[in-house]
Amino acid sequence: MPAFSGRAPGKSILFGEHAVVYGRPALAVPVNQVQARVSVFADPLGPAGRILIDAPEIGLQSELSALPETNPLRLLVTACLVEMGIPRLPAVKIRINSSIPVAAGLGSGAAVSVAALRALSSFLGHPLADERVNDLAFQVEKAYHGTPSGIDNTVITYGRPLFFERGQPYELLRVARPFTLVIADSGISSPTSAAVGGLRARWQADPARYEAIFDQAGALARLARQVIEDGIPQQLGPLIDQNQALLCEMDVSCPELDNLVAAARAAGAWGAKLSGAGKGGNMIALAPPEGAVEIAEALRAAGAVRTIITKVETAG
Ligand code: MEV
Repeated sequence: MPAFSGRAPGKSILFGEHAVVYGRPALAVPVNQVQARVSVFADPLGPAGRILIDAPEIGLQSELSALPETNPLRLLVTACLVEMGIPRLPAVKIRINSSIPVAAGLGSGAAVSVAALRALSSFLGHPLADERVNDLAFQVEKAYHGTPSGIDNTVITYGRPLFFERGQPYELLRVARPFTLVIADSGISSPTSAAVGGLRARWQADPARYEAIFDQAGALARLARQVIEDGIPQQLGPLIDQNQALLCEMDVSCPELDNLVAAARAAGAWGAKLSGAGKGGNMIALAPPEGAVEIAEALRAAGAVRTIITKVETAG
């Protein structure tokens, strides 16, 4: 039985995570070395409406209806059916394969949503346009995470480097000169909702302090956009380091991430910071053209469980 498939890449935030939730701009890039792929197969012998989920990487094999109502897979199947005006699916099997580590700041949840919406809508004979995929994936993020900015689903849907401000149309980043990032996984699982919720509580206790930090992060994102569009990537290094200092002030880093950031700088990175929600997950290091492999080795020696070398360019 032929399958209908959808794919989506991972993502990394270059500047402005967390501050973006509070309306400041941020920059994000796709990470094509990791991917989510979802395939939908008709199950001609199954009863109408039965949806079997098989997600081997996370050890999930279940009927969709047995998962909690708040499960993002249930939310996105419902969102897709409502969008298409279809009361229920015929019997299907949905297979989810993803090389994007979960709860690691690389957008695994949003990537599965985007890939699944693409696969399901193709299966139903009306592949959704990216704009609708992005809107529906955002609805799922909101139901699941509470207060997402929308940056994850947007960069993952469009698969291009972008400048993003909550509630505004995204803008593509013109990368005048490609540059190299080393991404390193601390191995510490950190759900986005917990890191975002923790910061929200601190912000509620002292809004003036955090608003001032968010302003500085937003200003860095604007400056970084200019530097990227001017084609002088090494000038991003100090801006990345300043962003990391602000993330530490927000208290979303952790000793393991701080250690990886220090190791990357010691190995010659132009700048290094956590990327994503923090409190674990991944960090990024801006590498000089010939230094990426050495920095990746240094990061693994410092405890990273895995590293990815990726080039940022306009084509994404
Ligand atoms: C998570 O990848 C990025 C955060 O800024 C949350 C969000 O923007 O929704 C921490």
